[in-house]
Amino acid sequence: MHHFQYTDNRLHCEKVSVSEIAREVSTPFYLYSHATLCKHFRAFDSSFNEIKHLTCFSVKSNSNLAILRLFARQGSGADIVSGGELYRTLKAGIAPEKVVYSGVGKKTDDIEYALNSDILMFNVESPMEILRLNEVAGRLGKKARIAIRVNPDVDPKTHPYISTGLKENKFGIDIAEAPGQYAMAASLENIRVYGLSCHIGSQLTEVSPFVDALRKLKTLIAGLEASGIQINYLDVGGGLGITYDREQPPDPGQYARAIRAELKASDMTLILEPGRVIMGNAGILVTEVLYTKTTKEKKFFIVDAAMNDLLRPSLYNSYHSIWPVKKAGLKNVKADIVGPICESGDFFARDRDVALFEPGDLMAIMSAGAYGFSMSSNYNSRPRVCEVMVKEDRFYIIRQRESFQDLIKGEQIPDFLS
Ligand SMILES: Cc1ncc(COP(=O)(O)O)c(C=O)c1O
Repeated sequence: MHHFQYTDNRLHCEKVSVSEIAREVSTPFYLYSHATLCKHFRAFDSSFNEIKHLTCFSVKSNSNLAILRLFARQGSGADIVSGGELYRTLKAGIAPEKVVYSGVGKKTDDIEYALNSDILMFNVESPMEILRLNEVAGRLGKKARIAIRVNPDVDPKTHPYISTGLKENKFGIDIAEAPGQYAMAASLENIRVYGLSCHIGSQLTEVSPFVDALRKLKTLIAGLEASGIQINYLDVGGGLGITYDREQPPDPGQYARAIRAELKASDMTLILEPGRVIMGNAGILVTEVLYTKTTKEKKFFIVDAAMNDLLRPSLYNSYHSIWPVKKAGLKNVKADIVGPICESGDFFARDRDVALFEPGDLMAIMSAGAYGFSMSSNYNSRPRVCEVMVKEDRFYIIRQRESFQDLIKGEQIPDFLS
């Protein structure tokens, strides 16, 4: 559930009218509801109250400092995949001992930064990475705490681009090879084996793939413990899906019950890396209709947001509901909603029944809080949009809209061209 609702036919975020914010900050902009974020975080985290656990918010889903600070206040840790995400995480006040670092291509300077910051553990994804960590930790006089991210070969039944736990995916170490790699890691001077990790994909709408993966992990852990390798942290990744359209994903309570049933009285600390389930429906992208265009084939609404602001429809053909910011009296029409970018892939909806918008009308692209702003770019030299958070009856700009000067920051014309 979220706090975007109509009052007198006008869309509100909590108690603030969305058009009022648009008047102040212009369009397009991302808008997040503080109450929704808090509710989603608590609903997720408290579902695991009965077991020792650490919720590490997945920073890639939304990395705005204010959002990370909000989760820090809720006790969250962070799941990061780069030095840049570590920088944001620490700036936001998330304790380093609550940070786990995944990713198949960790660079040496990022590894150094994470070791010097004393993060909880590295989720390593290849045998070479274990050796690199051992070498870098030795050079710094540190011990690198690791979990091996295993690839359990379980089909998460989601979009192929966000499926990560199948044999053909680049992620993790084949579960069959994990015992050998654990033995190798345990023999290294500067490595401390701490845990086991796994993330099979994103936007999962069923519990069964999580359970299938967990069963495979349990078998692996039993074998490791029999050979004297202790697993203290079990990181089951993120991936719980949300309703964009008609999906009916399990709620966090159902998900937690399924996991708890598998783990029973285990002594391990469970780590969870939710992103989308907390952020997705807590944010929207607000855009203005610039033009309408009717051809023999189609009707188009051309809006001022584009694929550089929200890439998901272009990248995954993903569905986002389109709501009018002012509802009154608009009849429905079938149309494409497209942005100004010079790509036919620049669309938010195709052949969709939507309100008959007029130029100047505002529309809300729903469920845009996760992988929205964090995947945005400056393509077509479009300044990135501003981000706004509403708390009760006030709104706060949590990221300024970029300027044209920001667009050329760091660019230099060499002497021979001056
Ligand atoms: C390792 C890892 N953990 C957690 C997540 C977060 O997934 P979600 O946003 O679906 O919860 C991802 C997403 O790609 C990931 O790669």
